[in-house]
Formats: sequence, C-alpha cells, structure tokens
Amino acid sequence: MNDREKLLNAMFDVQAFRSTGHELIDLLAEELHRNLAEQQPVLQWRNPAIEDRRWQNPLPQQSTLDLPGLLDRLRQDILPGNLGIHHPHNLGHQVATPLPVAALCDLVAALTNQAMAVYETGPSATMLERQVIRWLSALIGWQTREVNGVLTSGGAQANLTALLAARQHATASNIWKHGVSTQRPLRILASEYSHYSVSRAAGIMGLGTDAVIRIGTDEAGRMLMSEIASAHQRCLENQEIVMAVAANAACTPTGSIDPLQAIGEYCQAHQLWFHVDGAHGASALLSKQHRGMLQGIAMADSLVWDGHKLLYMPATVSAVLFRNAEHSYLAFAQDASYLFQGNDHDIETYNVSYRSLECTKRMMALKLWAAFSLYGVEGLAALVDEAFGKARLFAEKLRTRPDFELLMMPQTNIVCFRHLANGLSGDQLNRHQARLRTSLVESGEFHLTQVELHGKCWLRTTLMNPFTQEQHLDNLLDAIDRHSH
Ligand SMILES: Cc1ncc(COP(=O)(O)O)c(C=O)c1O
Repeated sequence: MNDREKLLNAMFDVQAFRSTGHELIDLLAEELHRNLAEQQPVLQWRNPAIEDRRWQNPLPQQSTLDLPGLLDRLRQDILPGNLGIHHPHNLGHQVATPLPVAALCDLVAALTNQAMAVYETGPSATMLERQVIRWLSALIGWQTREVNGVLTSGGAQANLTALLAARQHATASNIWKHGVSTQRPLRILASEYSHYSVSRAAGIMGLGTDAVIRIGTDEAGRMLMSEIASAHQRCLENQEIVMAVAANAACTPTGSIDPLQAIGEYCQAHQLWFHVDGAHGASALLSKQHRGMLQGIAMADSLVWDGHKLLYMPATVSAVLFRNAEHSYLAFAQDASYLFQGNDHDIETYNVSYRSLECTKRMMALKLWAAFSLYGVEGLAALVDEAFGKARLFAEKLRTRPDFELLMMPQTNIVCFRHLANGLSGDQLNRHQARLRTSLVESGEFHLTQVELHGKCWLRTTLMNPFTQEQHLDNLLDAIDRHSH
C-alpha cells in the first residue's frame, strides 16, 4: 500500500471512527453534565479581538491523523469557549436546550449525508420529512392528505419561502419568468415587532424593505386591528397590492402573540394571504394548557414553525407549512429539469426540492421524528409548559419588586424588564441596562439579552431551559443587584 492509499484508508477507518466516537460521546456527556450541574460558568467570556489572534495559524498542509489531539483540542479549548446552552443560567436567546437524543440523530444525518434534493438521494430522509410535516399539520388542525410543506434550515428561510409563495399568489402573472417589475407595488403588512427576516425577505424578493408596512402594537405587544385595516385601506387607495399580512406567534422581542383569529377573519373577508410566523410560539399547539392562545392559527395560509426553538431540537430545523397543499409549490415555480426527470407526477411529488430553496439539504426530520416517537406530544408539551410557567413565575417576582420594572406579563416565555437604579432616568437608565447586561455576561454568571423598544432599553430573558429553577431566577435578581453597584 502506498502512502496515499494508507492516508485514504486512515481517513475512512471504521475502527478509528468507532473508538473516537465512543470517546467523543463520553466527552460530550461530561460536558452536558457539567452544564446541567452548574460546575462551570454559563460562558467563559473571551474578548473576541484577543481571541481572534489565537486563530491565525497557517492552513495545515500535512496530515497528522492525530484523533486524540483533536479530542484534546475539543476538551481543552473549543468546548470551554462555548456558551453553556444547557446551563440553568442560560437565559439569553430563543435557542433550544437540545434533547440529547436529537443530537445523536444529527450525527446519523451527518455521516449518512442524504442530499435529499430528489427522492432517490434520500428515500428514508424524504419519508421522515413527509411524516413530520403531516404530524405538525395535524397539530395545527389541518387534515390534508397531501404533504403541504417542507423543512428548511431555519425560520428566516422558512419566512422567505412562505412570502415567495404569497407573492406569487397575489399576482396573476408568472413572477419567476417575468420578474416583479410589471406588477403594481406589492406590500406586506407586518407587526412593528416582526423578525427582521420578514423585511429581509422583502429585500431579497426585490420589493425593497419599504414594502413592509409596519403595524403598531398595543400595550401587550399585539398588532392593532385598526392599524391593519387603515394600512390596508391606504394600500387600496394607492393602487398597491397587499400580498400578505404577516402575524407573529410569537414575536421576537416580547414573545407576544398577535390576535390570530381576528387577523385571520379580516384576511378571509378581504381575500388576503394570512402568514403566521410561528417560529417561536407554534409549539404552544402541543400544550393543552397553552394552545388556546393560538386560536385562529389554522386560518393561516402559511405558517413557519422552528424545531430548534420550543421543540428542543439542535439547530437547524424549521417547517414552512401551507393550509392548501398546492400552495406549497408556489414559492419556487421553476423548471429544474436536470433534477426532475420524467413526467410521472406521482414520483415527482416526492422530490422535496420543488418546494425548497435548498438543493442539497440535511436530513433534518430524523431528530424531530425521533423526539415525537420517544416522548410524544405529551413529553414535548411538558417542555413548553415548563418554559411558559417559569416565565410567568419570573414576571411575578419582578412585579413585586420596587427596584424593577416589568414590561408586560409574558404570553409565552420571554420576559423583558428594567432595573430601576436610584436616580437614573432616560438615556442614563438605558445605558445602565446595557452596562448591567455586559457585566453579567462577561462575568460568566448569566447569559441574557437586551432589546430596545420605543426608545427604552430592556433586559430580555428567554426561559427555554427546563432546568432553570426558581432559585436560579432569584440568583439572577441578586446578581443584578450586585452588578449594579
Ligand atoms: C419570530 C421569529 N421568526 C423568525 C426567526 C428566524 O429564525 P431562524 O433563526 O431559525 O432563522 C426568529 C429567530 O429568532 C424569530 O424569533
């Protein structure tokens, strides 16, 4: 065997994969334990500018085959530089504390690398995806026999996909072929609190981000029906086409859920496309206790639902679903004949790339399928209930404290608040929140975010982690007190 053959064999050595894999799982199990048991800070803050200097090594030219060295690097350097996502003090973003079994499924997806563009490049992956799409649709209350959506890499892409379909639906001509230039101006009515991916989608679609008309919200962060109606009226007067009304369930800054029933009825009455960005909160559908908050969601024409948020999946896995299965083909009404050979409709409907921006895409459904199979709706609902319950508990605490201001009672699991430092107001008070956050994060004690709403800066916590207990929330209030001096 020559050197090259030896090298190739080493790269794909089954025994090395097996033994390194065992060690890797041991290493990750230890890491999971240390985070859950709070044996390390939630974040070992490293200044990025200084950190960057450590990552300037020249591109390696020679093979080392040093798998133990790789594990050492992971153990000593890379894992300690991670945000401790399973740490009970991780209260930052809407990112799932992933179910360990779902992480194992991602390993399967990585090694087997099913490209999925067409059925034959991922037969099992395709079937898993179809199954998961049907399950999610059933949870919404849609009993379609046809598969009516697709999994995407993230909610931003799912929003784009839904809005592309809405755009095509709103116009008589073939936009793929003729472009948008021949159309009357297209508009999207969206909450002032919509995720930036909605206006980014407008930019990508060539409509310009000004095409998104921002709808004001009430004191609970929900879109005002009166503003939707007046914006719609103005569009009609200006000869503009409202291609979609985009509601949130729930919105990113405050976790508020728009009045879905009222918006759905308005859209039905005026024949407008009703899009629901449920990236964050659609998972409330699982919960007997909380699904009532989503009343009206089944009226949506399109719905986005992130698995890597409140379905506790590792990133990324999102779904974009359409009430009318045929609409799932509207987004990419494009001829890709090199992919779709033959004319047999029955075969071609199994090729997911008709509905997806991605060509090659990861086998994302396996982890969701496994989680539903192992824990059922009941188990996943428990995670949602836990998160929403903790948020309410935290808000109740804040409400009774004179040194804190609570923005609103949480509707889901996002709590925004301010620390009222003695004598500070206006910009000084805003800067105080930002300083507090930086200090807490850099100390490694807690991870939380901040958000600016109507000129006020708020501290923002997302209660995702089922292992964050009341004691940890008390610890946070104590830490804020300490860091504010
Ligand atoms: C309401 C909402 N929509 C869309 C997104 C984008 O989702 P993703 O980060 O999965 O692309 C987010 C992300 O936080 C979100 O909160």
